[in-house]
Amino acid sequence: MTKGIYRGLVSYGDPEFSRFLRRAFLHASGRSPESLDRPVIGIATSASDYNPCHRQQPELVKSVARGIIAAGGLPMEFPTVSLGESFLEPTSMVYRNLMAMDVEELVRAQPMDGVVLVGGCDKTVPAQLMGALSAGRPAIQLVTGPMSTGRYQGERLGACTDCRRFWASYRAGEVSEEEIGRVERNLATTAGTCAVMGTASTMACIVEALGMALPDSAAAPAVHADRLRIGEATGAAAVSIAVAGRTPDQVVTAASVRNALRVLLAIGGSTNALIHLTAIAGRLGLRIDPDELKELSDTTPVLVELKPTGAHYMEDLHASGGLPAVLHELRDLLDLSALTVTGETLGERLGDGPPWVDRDVVRPMSDPSRDKGGLVWLSGSLAPSGALIKRSAADPELFETTGRAVVFSSLEDLAARIDDPALDVEPSDVLVLQNAGPLGAGMPEAGYLPIPAKLARSGVRDMVRISDARMSGTAYGTIVLHVSPEAALGGPLALVRTGDQIRLSVSEGRLDLLVPPDELDKRRADLPVSAPPMVTGYRKLFRDHVLGADQGCDFDFCLPGS
Ligand code: FES
Ligand code: MG
Repeated sequence: MTKGIYRGLVSYGDPEFSRFLRRAFLHASGRSPESLDRPVIGIATSASDYNPCHRQQPELVKSVARGIIAAGGLPMEFPTVSLGESFLEPTSMVYRNLMAMDVEELVRAQPMDGVVLVGGCDKTVPAQLMGALSAGRPAIQLVTGPMSTGRYQGERLGACTDCRRFWASYRAGEVSEEEIGRVERNLATTAGTCAVMGTASTMACIVEALGMALPDSAAAPAVHADRLRIGEATGAAAVSIAVAGRTPDQVVTAASVRNALRVLLAIGGSTNALIHLTAIAGRLGLRIDPDELKELSDTTPVLVELKPTGAHYMEDLHASGGLPAVLHELRDLLDLSALTVTGETLGERLGDGPPWVDRDVVRPMSDPSRDKGGLVWLSGSLAPSGALIKRSAADPELFETTGRAVVFSSLEDLAARIDDPALDVEPSDVLVLQNAGPLGAGMPEAGYLPIPAKLARSGVRDMVRISDARMSGTAYGTIVLHVSPEAALGGPLALVRTGDQIRLSVSEGRLDLLVPPDELDKRRADLPVSAPPMVTGYRKLFRDHVLGADQGCDFDFCLPGS
């Protein structure tokens, strides 16, 4: 097949005319005719004023283009949907699949021999990978890199674990109105993605662990010169990957997905990343088995001391050997034969490991931060298709709890009553939120239910909280998420009533509703049948086709063979 900008042309019936027409229009771009015969490398960009995390992308994209040209390719930059995590209603989760479709179709439909995917903010990297996997063209991922930390009265601050900490103190009356305003201006102070091990950082590490990005590319800060050097190197690598015809299905395999799960657990990564990794693997028909996850979680120690589980930030990980330091520590647990995008195996990539590692940031296997992985898969009568808890960010004292449910039927109900002084709630109760799953509400990051104001003011900092929602990767607490099937699909979560007893056992991996089956049958029969709201366009597509959290919230028609 011809490479370059003229490949596969039949659109005007007459191939010669198709070439002629495409050439005529390309002359308008001012590129030399000779350059059009080079391997074409698309650069999928996602800069947007609504995405401050990608603020430096134009400069980063320039570095990619330099690398492509130096390696003999022709860079062709094109924009796609961009998703700025904090700006989308009801939640960016609804639009991840829209971006994935956009990327897939533009990579497939436009002439290119390979593509560099430039993303960073939470949903953008999974969307780009999902799209590129389905498009099937040679691809490499480049993340924008994390923010650098800010300073406030001698303390380092980073989005957004510190956002939550200060807000909790403000809710408890310990921080004044004026002070919270000053803090607000110091939480996110540079371009780049959230500075802690939130979803964006977790996905950056996962992409590197999968082998879909260059080694040591996950953690370099967005504003660091290293980030631009990584951009150049990624552009150059894209040309060889395109010439070699190395498609992402050769890199994303059962072995590399298992490696990525190990890394997710060892970095104390975000719960959201499990949904995204499930969706990414699902694009190739690979499934993440709950039993395998349980086995991996019990045998993978947490090694990385980043917020919200530790005290450090992504810039510290970069200065401590980056992800290669983590991979090197984990090497006995990884499949080192997994192929990476540059054509070497993971083992070849790791070599002798980085020359120096700050052991406060990346712990050795012999002295981990925690013995067991950060995420625990739960199942039981309240979650027949599973649920998830991030044990590394939770209070171990609450791991074995039986408590009284205090139920909120929706996000609106939660907002209306959680701070009501008359709310009947005790610190030992279990807060339950219903109807916040993918179908119910687009699965917002509402699973971090606030501690009721009256308890927060008396010093309560954590309670068991359960929902079918997600939680920000930057949050902490004893929070059970992704309960499946979700309440809006009639899962047992919909049947919980205030006063019921719920049992959580992290050691047994169980989540049970202690209500007799005949009572639950009665409640099920009495569930109100409400017509779904009328929606059109993309939101209708979402409502009609979104799968549950246990299937990565992808669309049913995007799975192979669907
Ligand atoms: Fe963009 Fe956190 S808001 S990475
Ligand atoms: Mg986030």
